[in-house]
Amino acid sequence: MNDPAARVRIFDTSLRDGEQSPGCSMTSPQKLRFAHALAELGVDVIEAGFPASSDADREAVRAIAREVRGSTIATLARCHPGDIEACASALEGAVHPRIHVFISTSPLHREHKLGLSREQVIERAVMGVELARRHADDVEFSAEDALRTEPEFLAEVCSAAVAAGARTLNIPDTVGYTTPSEIRALFEYLRANVRDAAQAVFSAHCHNDLGLAVANSLAAIEGGARQVECTINGIGERAGNCALEELIMALRVRGEYYDAHTRIDARRLVPTSRLLSRITGMAVQRNKAVVGQNAFAHESGIHQHGMLKHRGTYEIMRPEDVGWAQSQMVMGRHSGRAALNDRLQALGFNLDESQLNSVFAGFKSLAEKKREVFDADLEALVLGADARAVRGHRLTRLHVSTGVAQDSLPTASVQVVDPDGATVSEAAVGDGPVHALFAALARATGLALDIESYQVSSVTTGDDAQGQASVTARIDGAELTGSGTSTDILEASALAWLDIANRVSRNRQPQRMAATA
Ligand code: KIV
Ligand code: ZN
Repeated sequence: MNDPAARVRIFDTSLRDGEQSPGCSMTSPQKLRFAHALAELGVDVIEAGFPASSDADREAVRAIAREVRGSTIATLARCHPGDIEACASALEGAVHPRIHVFISTSPLHREHKLGLSREQVIERAVMGVELARRHADDVEFSAEDALRTEPEFLAEVCSAAVAAGARTLNIPDTVGYTTPSEIRALFEYLRANVRDAAQAVFSAHCHNDLGLAVANSLAAIEGGARQVECTINGIGERAGNCALEELIMALRVRGEYYDAHTRIDARRLVPTSRLLSRITGMAVQRNKAVVGQNAFAHESGIHQHGMLKHRGTYEIMRPEDVGWAQSQMVMGRHSGRAALNDRLQALGFNLDESQLNSVFAGFKSLAEKKREVFDADLEALVLGADARAVRGHRLTRLHVSTGVAQDSLPTASVQVVDPDGATVSEAAVGDGPVHALFAALARATGLALDIESYQVSSVTTGDDAQGQASVTARIDGAELTGSGTSTDILEASALAWLDIANRVSRNRQPQRMAATA
């Protein structure tokens, strides 16, 4: 099992391909928090962002490069000097930096997107790789839309990239078009036809438009890929990318079949998945493999009967092996600060003194309201404390009244403290209590948000569970999602609204470049 030739590197692009998709945008502190979680999970490469796309992305990559250890930190660039230089400067401080350059190679993209001939595409690719090599020893080259590229031309571009110094060749199925047997054959072909192929690691990057991203990535491994690019919960452009947790468990459960191994700590899969959905407000579907709430639930009598006799009847992996059992740990109002800190560390949160004090205060007041405080509650507390630490409007009072009588008028009044310390009180009526609440907040902050969606879900089970509210608003064409958590769902809703408003007022929303899929 430790044969180095059978080792598959895991390249996580949740913070780049994932983060650029609607509903998944993260602030710089959130990206940093998530990058630490990825390093704990054991991913080999963290693609931290696309620095040329926005100041916010550059800032986030910089923080990750300075702080996160244990994984290579990669950044994306088109084959443009400006992009590559932005990567180099953002990566200063990284122990293992990687610059990832890409250019489209398919006839469709060459003609309609780039307006370049085959020769010009090769020239640009070589220029990009050579320039990147001046800034970093570790350079990855991607041929965008590779699966719709003529295989001989693809082999030619890849050969030129290797000669220019690329040591990873990524073959993206940018539009999720390929099938397992086709991608496997392509990897076999490239390994046989790219000059000096042995000098490079071949990598798969599959999108999920036909629901085949994981199957295609596994087939690429069979064809010789030794790096797979994926994301937690499969987030990513359109239908997403290959889901890391599914790929890892397929390699593990069917280890004898694939004969490939990774260095991922599978017990961190569920906590990492949950952290991402808590940060982005994007819920994981209940029946999602490995990390969905139903993934290990046995409801029917026949299945329950089988499970009681022998787990193996209906379970091919154990929930505790992917981090489920651990996530049920419970704390209560008698738990102390040290116990809380221990549990937070086990969940991957290393807090400094003042962060711990703030989370401990939140924990004590939550434990007074709830009988049992679960890991998911603790994660929500840490992320809530992160949000409160950010300068912006703070909610200090909230009153909402509503009713079902014909003449009842849902009404909300709020008090917020603005970033300069001034207290503002406002009230509004609306079609319902949340409508009234958002209108009152808009008056109090002077910000009108164009709300696209609003959801409330429970963080854990039980009638005393905390509610997590997610609000998505469209700001200057970009979607921003904010979240808030409380045992009171109206307070959670107000916090989610303010989460977005504070980002807007700090003018931090990413100005995205729609350069890649
Ligand atoms: O899907 C794609 O082609 C990409 C590349 C930029 C790697 O994300
Ligand atoms: Zn992609």
